[in-house]
Amino acid sequence: MTEPLTLAPSQVRHGSNSGQPMTRRDGVLKVTGAATYAADTHPEGLLHAVTAVSGIARGRVSFLDVATAKAHPGVVEVITPANRPPLAQDPDSKPGPFSFRMDALQNDRVRYPNQPIALVVAETLEAATEGARLLAPRYEAEPARVGFADGLPEPAATAGVGGPARQETGDPEAGFAAAAQVLEARYETPGQYHNAMEPHAIVAQWEGDHLTIDMPNQAIALSQAGFAAFFGIPPENVLLRSPFLGGGFGSKAILAGPQVLAILAARMLGRPVKLVLTRAQMYGPVGHRGATRQTLRLGMDHEGRLTALEHHAVSATSTFDDFIEPAANASLNLYASPAILARHDAMRMDIGTPGPMRAPGEASGSAALESAIDEAAAACGIDPLEFRLRNYAETDPISGKPYSAKSLRACYARGAEAFGWAGRPLAPRQMRDAGGQLVGWGMGSALFPAPMFQAQARAELRADGTAVVETSGVDMGQGAWTVLAQLAADGLGLDIDQVTFNSGSSTLPSGGIAGGSGHTATAGGALHAAGRDVLARLADIATADPASPLFGAGNAGVTGRDGRLVRNDDESRSEAYADIMARAGLTTLEGTGTGARDPANAEARAMFSHGAVFAEVKVDPELGQVRVSRMVGAFAAGRIINPRLTRSQLYGGMIWGLSFALHEEALHDRRSGKLVNADLAGYHVPVNADTPAMEALLIDEDDPFVNDLGIKGVGEIGITGSVGAIANAIWHATGVRVRRFPIRIEDIL
Ligand code: MOS
Repeated sequence: MTEPLTLAPSQVRHGSNSGQPMTRRDGVLKVTGAATYAADTHPEGLLHAVTAVSGIARGRVSFLDVATAKAHPGVVEVITPANRPPLAQDPDSKPGPFSFRMDALQNDRVRYPNQPIALVVAETLEAATEGARLLAPRYEAEPARVGFADGLPEPAATAGVGGPARQETGDPEAGFAAAAQVLEARYETPGQYHNAMEPHAIVAQWEGDHLTIDMPNQAIALSQAGFAAFFGIPPENVLLRSPFLGGGFGSKAILAGPQVLAILAARMLGRPVKLVLTRAQMYGPVGHRGATRQTLRLGMDHEGRLTALEHHAVSATSTFDDFIEPAANASLNLYASPAILARHDAMRMDIGTPGPMRAPGEASGSAALESAIDEAAAACGIDPLEFRLRNYAETDPISGKPYSAKSLRACYARGAEAFGWAGRPLAPRQMRDAGGQLVGWGMGSALFPAPMFQAQARAELRADGTAVVETSGVDMGQGAWTVLAQLAADGLGLDIDQVTFNSGSSTLPSGGIAGGSGHTATAGGALHAAGRDVLARLADIATADPASPLFGAGNAGVTGRDGRLVRNDDESRSEAYADIMARAGLTTLEGTGTGARDPANAEARAMFSHGAVFAEVKVDPELGQVRVSRMVGAFAAGRIINPRLTRSQLYGGMIWGLSFALHEEALHDRRSGKLVNADLAGYHVPVNADTPAMEALLIDEDDPFVNDLGIKGVGEIGITGSVGAIANAIWHATGVRVRRFPIRIEDIL
């Protein structure tokens, strides 16, 4: 037996599927209602659960009218801390690095508004809803602490998604002392909520000590293990299905109390239970983006070069857990400065624990950083793009490492050209349109890390030359079900139509986390590798078989293409997969693959996607109304697998940036602590009419270090430059610098 032939990456990089702007394979399923979401699951004997949630922010529940609720026709059970069966694991424990303390009726304490305080289970949704209303809770309320003025400061907290509380390079104080001028400004960002279209939903059913869960979930293997721990069963006893998500944005990567309660109710009552949170009930127990107060300090020399950069973020978090928005990290990797200091403190409040929300840290952090850079450029009398170029980082500022690839200069150039930036007057309030509206142009740099997680995949070639590929990875609406299948087909050298792609179930090899903008690289890498593994085995068989035209291909090797193995030294000699299989008497041939980063590269290089966003706003000089009229983004994110879906992701990010700049804000009543806009009527997100003409340009980037396939990610980067670009455009239109998001009419007038 010879060594299996390995196919060099260059031989499989340009498969026929990758690079194609394929439409979503799930598109028709979704628009026809054929794609099933968790709440579409209706097992026999289904019960409906509704959570009752707290109407106060802090205190305890002193009374629940359980008797009246239970007496309501159709109500089967009311679960409260008084009768809640035990769990194998304390909901207030933190067993793993990515686990959150939760509220699962462990006691009568209230720690935030909309906290679950009881679960009503009934034969119908209507009966459960009415039962929850009839509980008519009474409270012993304590004063709510929901704003920065009332919060409990906690210095030097640990940043929430990795990274220490304080990171530093060089001597910041010396840098500020040497500066020709120092700019200091404080920026405020509000609490924001994920507001996925699909609410958090779960259908739980038990068969003995085997649990089946249908729920939207971004991290199937982690959640499987997490639920297993709560119920004291082995992970393999938990079947978790999550084929489609109607948006996740980070909030569906974590376990939360309501889900655990639904599973508990199903076990307690011996029947399947469905729980769907209402929109308002998602403003509390399932995470949000914590509010921040960020102070930026920039020292500049006479030429506008940074001498020191300090970014201090105070982030809102709950009283009982430790996730904080790592906003100051935004200043670590983008601009060259001989001295950088980034630090984080927490402000504890009576709010649900924040969690990762699309571009955690970077979104809020870059809103402040990109605003401050614009202010610094203006203070130096330098064009904001020129200022950024003068402070261009050739190596990663905080670590000193080389970038795996950085094409930000090209992003600046292409974006500026497409936008027409060259004609921009330096001073604000210089441009009007024909209707007399003030016009302003602003820009921001975009940056997001290119992490990878761990994923596994399995590929199986069949006798007829078609294949099945599998990984548990999920489609959140971002197009993974298409892009991952493209990569899987490329790994196998097959057309995508010859590949059956299975995903979204815990029975499959783990696809890792659909998050961190790392899903395509991680799960896609695993799928591609699994295909290559199959082909290596197939090549091994064929090249050792004297009856094959590939016999003796030896070190020159073969390449899989269009369902055939082709000799690299003589392309006229090839053989169909099916023929090789048939002669070898094989009905199936299996391979496996792993998606993960080469640790040596991870250690040696700094890895980021980059971009530049340009925005035009029009501001009514009398009314202060702001319209974003144009946005152009140029992004470099390694190899682009599907340009159509990539652009779609980037548009989504840019619109989210617009939303951050002008719309989104969760508002608490300061006395009660309650959220007053916990719905899509009061919590503003942009609609089509708010969304301008947009362009997302893709810059070619060959990144040989990030992973074998050169893939970075695009899920989150679109937000990062866009917020600042819009804020800076508003300044350019009006001459008013607003440092509090969202920017409102009253801030401008
Ligand atoms: Mo995300 S915040 O990595 O879904």
